[in-house]
Amino acid sequence: MTVNRAFVPRAAQAATQAISATGLRKSYGDKVVLDGIDLSVPQGTVFSLLGPNGAGKTTAVKILSTLITADSGELSVGGHDVAADPQAVRAAIGVTGQFSAVDGLITGEENMLLMADLHHLSRREGRRLAAELLERFDLVEAAKKPAAGYSGGMKRRLDIAMTLVGGPRIIFLDEPTTGLDPRSRHTMWGIVRELVADGVTVFLTTQYLEEADELADRIAVLHDGKIAAEGSAEELKRIVPGGHVKLRFTDPDNYRSAASALRDAARDDEALALQIPSDGSQRELRSILDWLDSAGIEADELTVHTPDLDDVFFALTAAAPARNNQPKETVR
Ligand SMILES: Nc1ncnc2c1ncn2[C@@H]1O[C@H](COP(=O)(O)OP(=O)(O)OP(=O)(O)O)[C@@H](O)[C@H]1O
Ligand SMILES: [Mg+2]
Repeated sequence: MTVNRAFVPRAAQAATQAISATGLRKSYGDKVVLDGIDLSVPQGTVFSLLGPNGAGKTTAVKILSTLITADSGELSVGGHDVAADPQAVRAAIGVTGQFSAVDGLITGEENMLLMADLHHLSRREGRRLAAELLERFDLVEAAKKPAAGYSGGMKRRLDIAMTLVGGPRIIFLDEPTTGLDPRSRHTMWGIVRELVADGVTVFLTTQYLEEADELADRIAVLHDGKIAAEGSAEELKRIVPGGHVKLRFTDPDNYRSAASALRDAARDDEALALQIPSDGSQRELRSILDWLDSAGIEADELTVHTPDLDDVFFALTAAAPARNNQPKETVR
């Protein structure tokens, strides 16, 4: 049986969602940052809020985590009304802000123990939990050194370890991997996946579309104060036109004869490149290659481009500069 959402009372909807927002608005002076946005995040899932610099991601995180108040909107986190019961919300969540909460003057271990104190854990329990989390986040060796000397990735891991001290069931991660190298980023993704496997709900903001693609069950793109699109990565990719095969030539004569043979291809005379619409499947590629062979066309480079979240992002946030279609895969 399908239940029409419209007939489910709002309170009941909110109860099944770890996070929900309806009509969330926030302005700073004349500047409207969040212009009435709706969000809902089911328990135990990863929700990713995507948006360019200044889109309002951190503002949304701060409002939902009770650090600042909204101008209006119905907000519920962990089953608690954010405006009416911020204390209960705070008890249910953990927040890793965009800018590190790590105190560089003290050691990693001391940072952890400080968090344990803030959560009123006994000395013994605090030590046990700190040791366990430092181990889990591969910080045992660094634990006795001042955090100021940690690398960006280590600081970020310590930041999240500190967030986990209170055992939150809902975690907000504001750009957890910005500035990290690929290895540290993958480590962070592993940490998020482990949290979700434990049933934790993760609200993640990021500027990396690949990250949202990797981690998120649902993705919302924030643009001009509104949610420009929302869905799974696959759903969002369907918004933009399909992929293509790109043929590049070095010799202008070869390019021109190929262009006249391939009338359906889009031409880029400057780059000596032709684009043929294609879904990137093996079958289509084979038929394109066969056809090129039979027409005696030999391109100097052939690349396959499948639409990715970058395309969606640029299509939705149209003010962004045109993207040079980076190939995902080079065939030749
Ligand atoms: N305290 C404040 N006073 C005035 N304007 C603010 C304040 N905080 C944020 N803003 C403005 O609100 C807008 C949204 O900022 P926010 O930090 O939420 O963006 P963001 O999406 O997190 O960006 P980034 O990707 O750079 O972190 C920006 O234009 C910012 O200048
Ligand atoms: Mg931000």
